[in-house]
Amino acid sequence: QVDNEITAMICWMSDQPLDMNRHYILMHTTREVKAFVDEILYRVDVDTLHREDVETLSLNDIGRVKISTAQPLFFDPYRTNQETGAFILVDPFSHNTVAAGMIRGAARSVEEVGDEVATLSAEKRQFSPNVVWEGLNIQREEREATNGHKAAVLWFTGLSGSGKTSIARALERKLFEAGCSTMLVDGDYVRHGLCGDLGFSSKDRTENIRRVAEVARLFFEQGSIVLCTFVSPFAKDRKAARALIPEGRFVEVFVDVDLETARLRDPKGLYEKAERGEIDGFTGVSAPYERPQQPEITLDTRTVSIDDAVDILLRRLMESNIINA
Ligand code: ADX
Repeated sequence: QVDNEITAMICWMSDQPLDMNRHYILMHTTREVKAFVDEILYRVDVDTLHREDVETLSLNDIGRVKISTAQPLFFDPYRTNQETGAFILVDPFSHNTVAAGMIRGAARSVEEVGDEVATLSAEKRQFSPNVVWEGLNIQREEREATNGHKAAVLWFTGLSGSGKTSIARALERKLFEAGCSTMLVDGDYVRHGLCGDLGFSSKDRTENIRRVAEVARLFFEQGSIVLCTFVSPFAKDRKAARALIPEGRFVEVFVDVDLETARLRDPKGLYEKAERGEIDGFTGVSAPYERPQQPEITLDTRTVSIDDAVDILLRRLMESNIINA
């Protein structure tokens, strides 16, 4: 196989924990390529063999990771060929070997494997025991033909008060009036029901996004244009949501506003509360927001009005042939 994104099991062999922000040298057969560990899918607890969610891998940890390389690798999965399926990671500065790895396979996209959704994040998806996935009764394409438009997920991310909900509501109204099938999945109302048991720790936010991404996928398969408005502060959670939807149908909309403006707007009085220390871990004040690196669309709501934002988004949906002019 030839790919520059692989999944692998690695054993971490260095005192310095794995750092996903720096590159390593991946040595594979006779080649050396620059590589990043993009994601840790899980660590294996060697006593119980349970999979654990972790932020990094430390000395002697074994975990499944996704690695991207600067040039493609020509490889086989380790289980079919140990020579062409093995590699080591080397620290580019100290030249120490930091990990030994076994390639599981290429990191395939959702579309390539169709319904199986065998993406990396999907591998983390849990399945209830003894439940058989029968496939969809009515295919999305059939529904799209009836609806007269394609399905898509518009994922709005940004600070509280950035304008995600206002833009999404205005856009949904326009789409609805044009006869489109739409669904707005908003942080505030999901947290009154489906995710009412979750708080705002990083773990709970990840679970919140995991659930709503699955909901978005259901509505997507049902042929709708799904508008999701969540702070979704963590890049890895947004990436996992994206991985559930075929390429080109997931539109990440970064509603960008500086913290000062969001604070001044403070429509729900939450920034004021957070600054008084009455809300723990408030995004932007006492919890991080990871800005999207490559969103499909960025809307700076200091200069772009709601109407302009709606126009920009409608144009984008038309250009991508999701809706017709
Ligand atoms: S997310 O981080 O898990 O994506 P989500 O979008 O569901 O958050 O909910 C954010 C909304 O919850 C905000 O618009 C705000 O009204 C409210 N909220 C309450 N506590 C917090 C907090 N600690 N951080 C961010 N938003 C909060």
